[in-house]
Amino acid sequence: MEECVGQGLIRQIGVCNFSTKKLGDLLNQASIAPMMNQIELHPYLQQEDMLRFCRERDVLLTAYSPLGSVDRPKGMKKQDEPSLLENPVIVEIGAKHKISPAQVLIGWALRRDTVVIPKSVNQERLQQNLAAADVVLDDEDMQAIKSLDMKYRYVDGGFFAAPGSGYTVAGIWDE
Ligand SMILES: NC(=O)c1ccc[n+]([C@@H]2O[C@H](COP(=O)([O-])OP(=O)(O)OC[C@H]3O[C@@H](n4cnc5c(N)ncnc54)[C@H](OP(=O)(O)O)[C@@H]3O)[C@@H](O)[C@H]2O)c1
Repeated sequence: MEECVGQGLIRQIGVCNFSTKKLGDLLNQASIAPMMNQIELHPYLQQEDMLRFCRERDVLLTAYSPLGSVDRPKGMKKQDEPSLLENPVIVEIGAKHKISPAQVLIGWALRRDTVVIPKSVNQERLQQNLAAADVVLDDEDMQAIKSLDMKYRYVDGGFFAAPGSGYTVAGIWDE
C-alpha cells in the first residue's frame, strides 16, 4: 500500500477492524501511517481505549454500523440483538432535541470527532441522516449515552473468520 502511495495510485492508506494492538504494531513499522481505521462504533460499543489511542497517534476513526445494522442478512445476526434506535435513552434525547433516534446516534458519533457512515437506501432517511451533521448534543446527553456501553458487537467477526480464512474471532479483535 505504501508503494501505491509512492506511485500516486492512492492518496491515503486506511485500515479496517484493526485492534489497538494491530494498529500499534503497524504504526511502529510503517513509513506512511494509516490515516484511518474503520471499526464498529456506537453507544453499545464505545471503544474508549481505541478513541484515546487514535487521538494520541493521529489516526482518524470511521464508525460503521452506527445505527445498529438492523438489516444485516439473517445468517449474520444473533437472536434478540439489542436495538439502538429503540433504546429509551436515545429516544428520550431525540424527543428533547426534536430529532430522530438515528440523528441522535449520528450526532453522538460526530461529537466524538469520528467519521460516521450510516447506510440507507431510503431517500427520506438519507436526507435525515445528512441533516444530522447539524445536530449538537450537550454534555448531559453525552453523559447519559456513556452509560449505555456494554461492549456489544453486532459484527462479531464470525463472518470474517470463516473456515479456511486463516482468521479466528479472538485473533481479529485481540480480546
Ligand atoms: N468495514 C467493515 O467491516 C464493515 C462492517 C459492517 C458495516 N460496514 C459499513 O458500514 C456502513 C453502515 O453500517 P450497516 O449498514 O451495517 O448499519 P447501519 O448504518 O448501522 O444501519 C443500517 C440500517 O439502518 C436503517 N436506517 C438508516 N437510516 C435510518 C434512519 N434515519 N432511521 C431509521 N433507520 C435507518 C437502514 O434502513 P434503510 O436502508 O431502509 O433506510 C438499515 O436497516 C455500511 O456502508 C457498511 O458497508 C463496514
